[in-house]
Amino acid sequence: SDRPRVLSGIQPTAGSFHLGNYLGAVRQWVALQESHDAFYMVVDLHAITVPQDPAELRANTRLAAAQLLAAGLDPERCTLFVQSHVPEHAQLGWVMNCLTGFGEASRMTQFKDKSAKQGADRATVGLFTYPILQVADILLYQAHQVPVGEDQRQHIELTRDLAERFNGRFGETFTIPSPYILKETAKIYDLQDPAVKMSKSASTPKGLINLLDEPKATAKKVKSAVTDTDTVIRFDPENKAGVSNLLTIMSVLTDTSVADLEKSYEGKMYGALKTDLAEVMVDFVTPFRTRTQEYLDDPETLDSVLAKGAEKARAVAAETLAQTYERIGF
Ligand code: ADP
Ligand code: NA
Repeated sequence: SDRPRVLSGIQPTAGSFHLGNYLGAVRQWVALQESHDAFYMVVDLHAITVPQDPAELRANTRLAAAQLLAAGLDPERCTLFVQSHVPEHAQLGWVMNCLTGFGEASRMTQFKDKSAKQGADRATVGLFTYPILQVADILLYQAHQVPVGEDQRQHIELTRDLAERFNGRFGETFTIPSPYILKETAKIYDLQDPAVKMSKSASTPKGLINLLDEPKATAKKVKSAVTDTDTVIRFDPENKAGVSNLLTIMSVLTDTSVADLEKSYEGKMYGALKTDLAEVMVDFVTPFRTRTQEYLDDPETLDSVLAKGAEKARAVAAETLAQTYERIGF
């Protein structure tokens, strides 16, 4: 294919994807499969950087794949696979570990955040080096672009640095990738605490929109979102973080510009926006839940999609790894 290539991944977390995952990343994955040679994976190797129950991990990996298909990934238009099915990730990961400075790895803020949550003594070396595995994930596919949320920008920078370092030392081998981060949805915030990003680990239960929750519960969360004591519905992330977050979500899910939304809510109260958004959310998550369940109920199709995906991914990954090994002197 002469189309530019994209690569991205998502963790197989328990329960379901949250709205931040969808708006910040997965939605772009769906769009990019039309214009790009797209590789998307469920990153189970990354999941074991924190303790996992084997049966749950296996189930969550399938659940993640089912949700990606439900969100609109089409195996005819993209390569969807599970990271551990392609051993080259771990193999190139080791090479990249050996190119990374200890101080350089220590500067990764995601590790600092995640290890703080774990308790510094409990954090594994795997959690420390996971950004370096991510470097290998991207470089294996010679990706031009990496669609992710804002929290991943630093890791794409590291990827660029390591690719340039390897190329400089051993000869042109890797494509230098760029982050693909849409400004509007780069960071979706917690509905109860719009100062922090929506995330599985840091959000309050009421501030986190899980896509597979009971639609009624989701509507309730939207209606009780924290706003401010003012009444004007205006996009102003600095001073009106809660309302701005709701406008962003509404804008993307209804394909309406924020300016148009501001106009249509002129003179109206926050309650009107929340009621409308609750309805939009319900209309979005209801079919999403049904489709996810359909994929889960058909394990043969799911297995076959993932097996074919792994085969396609391996063909590319093996070629890059062979070239890399040759350059290194293996
Ligand atoms: P989490 O960040 O919840 O642990 P992942 O690390 O698996 O989930 O992230 C999957 C993708 O979702 C990444 O591209 C990440 O940048 C994106 N993402 C996660 N949370 C948000 C958010 N609140 N807003 C925008 N994008 C997000
Ligand atoms: Na993340």
